[in-house]
Amino acid sequence: MQNRNSADCIVFDEQAEYCHQIASMNRGRNLKYYIETLGCQMNEADSEQISGMLIQMGYTDTLDIAKADIIVFNTCCVRENAEFKLYGHIGKLKTVKQLKEGLLIVICGCMMQQKHIVEKIKKSYKHIDIVFGTHNRHEFPKLLFRRITEKKKIYEVWEDNKGIIEKVPVKRKSIITAFVPITYGCDNFCSYCIVPYVRGREKSRNPEMIKNEIINLASEGINEITLLGQNVNSYNCGMDFPGLLYYISDISGIDRIRFMTSHPKDLSDNLIKAMKEIPQMCSHIHLPLQSGSNSILKQMNRKYTKDEYLFLIEKIRESLKDITISTDIIVGFPGETEDDFQETLQVYEKAGFDFAYTFIYSKRSGTPAANREDQIPDDVKNRRFAKLISLVNDMTLKSNINDENKVLQVLVEGKSRTDDLVMTGRTRSNKIVNFKCDTDFTGSLIDVKIVKGHTWHLEGEKI
Ligand code: 5AD
Ligand code: SF4
Repeated sequence: MQNRNSADCIVFDEQAEYCHQIASMNRGRNLKYYIETLGCQMNEADSEQISGMLIQMGYTDTLDIAKADIIVFNTCCVRENAEFKLYGHIGKLKTVKQLKEGLLIVICGCMMQQKHIVEKIKKSYKHIDIVFGTHNRHEFPKLLFRRITEKKKIYEVWEDNKGIIEKVPVKRKSIITAFVPITYGCDNFCSYCIVPYVRGREKSRNPEMIKNEIINLASEGINEITLLGQNVNSYNCGMDFPGLLYYISDISGIDRIRFMTSHPKDLSDNLIKAMKEIPQMCSHIHLPLQSGSNSILKQMNRKYTKDEYLFLIEKIRESLKDITISTDIIVGFPGETEDDFQETLQVYEKAGFDFAYTFIYSKRSGTPAANREDQIPDDVKNRRFAKLISLVNDMTLKSNINDENKVLQVLVEGKSRTDDLVMTGRTRSNKIVNFKCDTDFTGSLIDVKIVKGHTWHLEGEKI
């Protein structure tokens, strides 16, 4: 098989040297870091690397921003409101920084891959110490070293994805489940989406690196992994995505394998077969539909029709009987008519989705859709969004009621945030289950009988 998009590998070794130097400068100072992540799971995974680097540099984490000696914002730019949110946050930090000598503020992530944003930070937010992008996040130790020793502001963003960075230390948020990136970037150029511009061309990670990471995770006690990529189905590095699933399926200690996201145009019969044959595969597929109108799908550059999508869903459900299917939907794409929107609602119902992430179209400068003159007015977008949410909630509730009286396997993730006697976890179908229990089963796989389906979770009883 051809290695169409496999990537050169950049190893962390040079940066590790900077980590050691900063760690010796920080020794005995009890310095703390606070990190805030905006956006998707890929950003969460990047933040886990940034946290890992900070720990190697001698910082410990804090959830209290007021106690931090270094504050990191890992940004997202998929929608416009993330930008406003960031400016709000960093604006407020100006006085905090004046009051706390030595406090460092770092901004990184997708938003920093946009030149105009970095210019704005340089000009209007001079209290920001370090800016870097997604492609050079592994350089954080070097940049921090320069900030400390040269005493000047650092703005350094690589324009391209020069290779996949390996051996970066990682501090995982969870001790039970873990994200494992398998591809970076995206080649699909959906006409509304900024990701290909800020994350670069798609690159697949070496399968041996992936397998070694998962073996290590299993030895640390992780039970469940989620393979991550903008479009995992186009993984291609000496093997395709189903090939990768078979390749990692002999790792012992990992009970559950998930993946996201799948582009419908690339979901192959072999993937469905692999999901059926590999016992660790979870019974959930996230398959973004975006719109139910053929005309809008074409304008979005999605490369499938609604019938092709529905046919795919039928095929998946036929082969994988207990599968849960979730999706992403955008309302208010430029030129979307009332009929287009009605088609989205119809296809949503027909597909019988179990849950969905819903989005109001947001203009992203640099993308083809942003230049269109037929943008939809906010009041129309909001009205359509409210109708969509109401359908999504009704159908999610229906799907959850359908699970009542079933006995489902739950991977227990911990105690509920609101009630100490309630444990919470996820089914193989990726639904949240809360159940009363006075023993702490965190990290265990247990059987739970579903007694009630709610819109946002299932209520169960341990059996
Ligand atoms: N406006 C609204 N939603 C968007 N998404 C991506 N770009 C935009 C945009 N400009 C949504 C898509 C994608 C999800 C991660 O974010 O539905 O699948
Ligand atoms: Fe964006 Fe489309 Fe790529 Fe998903 S597949 S990241 S929506 S361009």
